[in-house]
Amino acid sequence: MISRLPTMSQSYQVISLRELYDHVVDKEPNLFQSQPYAQVVRSVGLLVEAQGIRVGLGSICWLVADRPVPLEVVGFDGDRCFLMPLVGAQGIRPGTLIRVPTRTSDVSELPETDAMLGRVVDGMCHPIDGLGDFSAVHPVIANKPINPLMRHPIDQEIDLGVRAINALLTVGRGQRVGLFAGSGVGKSVLLGMLARFVQADVVVVGLIGERGREVQEFIRENLGEGLARSVVVACPADDSAALRLRGARLATTIAESFREEGRNVLLLMDSLTRVAQAQREIGLAMGEPPSTRGYTPSSFAALPKLVERAGTGASANAGSITAFYTVLMEEDDFQDPVVDAARAILDGHVVLARELAEQGIYPAIDVGGSISRLMTKLISEEQRVDAVRFRQLWQCYQEQRDLIAIGAYQQGSDALTDEAIRLYPAMCEFLQQSEHAPIPSGESRYDLEQVFKVAEPSQGELSVEGINPGININHQTVQPVRQ
Ligand SMILES: Nc1ncnc2c1ncn2[C@@H]1O[C@H](COP(=O)(O)OP(=O)(O)OP(=O)(O)O)[C@@H](O)[C@H]1O
Ligand SMILES: [Mg+2]
Repeated sequence: MISRLPTMSQSYQVISLRELYDHVVDKEPNLFQSQPYAQVVRSVGLLVEAQGIRVGLGSICWLVADRPVPLEVVGFDGDRCFLMPLVGAQGIRPGTLIRVPTRTSDVSELPETDAMLGRVVDGMCHPIDGLGDFSAVHPVIANKPINPLMRHPIDQEIDLGVRAINALLTVGRGQRVGLFAGSGVGKSVLLGMLARFVQADVVVVGLIGERGREVQEFIRENLGEGLARSVVVACPADDSAALRLRGARLATTIAESFREEGRNVLLLMDSLTRVAQAQREIGLAMGEPPSTRGYTPSSFAALPKLVERAGTGASANAGSITAFYTVLMEEDDFQDPVVDAARAILDGHVVLARELAEQGIYPAIDVGGSISRLMTKLISEEQRVDAVRFRQLWQCYQEQRDLIAIGAYQQGSDALTDEAIRLYPAMCEFLQQSEHAPIPSGESRYDLEQVFKVAEPSQGELSVEGINPGININHQTVQPVRQ
């Protein structure tokens, strides 16, 4: 029902979901008439309870109050239904009528895929960019299950245009990766770089639960010209929890539609933490027991349901969804339950470190703490050797950093540390990249090789004495690249 609204309101110059709802009742008085209805029996906190509805979870009903308000069915208990308003509800009274849709489903209709390119929509797929409504919609089956045994294996590298990831944390087409970072360490800039630089057909961006100001900033400053081949779903923090969750699912559904057409999609979701928090709000309102940090069991159940929808399609030609999900993590907060859950369900994670950002090393990728679980399947043996060596030396330097800084490290006492000190400037330079220039995979690999070709100081100069030239790269002192 709701997904038809844009077409009905074509003639009205509506640009936001709220305005659309205001208009719809004036202009389409017959819209709800043939619908069955239920009655509000209770309204506490975020939840509205109604009796007499028999509709599926995720369906949209309409509250016939002073102004009509869409509500999503989020649960039921016998013949009582729990609904959550998608926008601020006013004028709810005992007995207020709720119109029930005749057809019940989640996102059931989407505009043509190409019509969505370059557009910014809200959690109900209504344009909010002032560029007019979509001219047509067509039915889609969201979350069409793919038999895991039928999925095409991830066997092809995706060129992300970011050197440190391409060379040290190679990602495959259809891989799902977490981007773990605290606030202000460069998530948005990195997501913007990925969106502009990636070798993919389409980019779908889900901005879920972040500050409203950031939506415009991200689109204008970070995404920039990348918007032309992107679809942005924006559900800022002031949207209701139900709408934010819908937004996350909608972004995934849009990515699925492109994948079904055989296209390679990059899905960027900022942030998975806010998705879990939206589900927590709903769960707590429905009386679910809180566990770690107030998260309810359904908060964690929502995450794999969402991320499992990304990935490769059912055949080699079926397209793919490579996905990056940001996860909010303050320094060393690996105990955060969402961080923990995300690490378990994703195929790798890239950690951004505040320490590096403070030194002006951008993108601030903490090589030691990051991992791409599929990397070894995608790269050559030479690249694997170089990447492991880089991680080993980088981690060694970080561990000895304090000693080196105060001059307590004696040159020559440890060959690995000596080499780490010698190559550290080259490694820092390798990690840094301007946010305006992509570095393709081939060049990234070449640059990685060059790091180790930094000339060794001649005999007698302090830094090389005692260095074992053949470092056993298989003897890993740092977290190895897991398969
Ligand atoms: N690649 C880069 N090159 C230069 N500066 C950068 C780069 N990445 C980030 N920065 C600097 O870091 C600042 C914060 O970056 P960004 O807005 O991406 O962080 P964030 O993690 O998205 O923050 P928030 O948590 O507030 O959303 C930027 O304004 C910029 O000054
Ligand atoms: Mg940001």
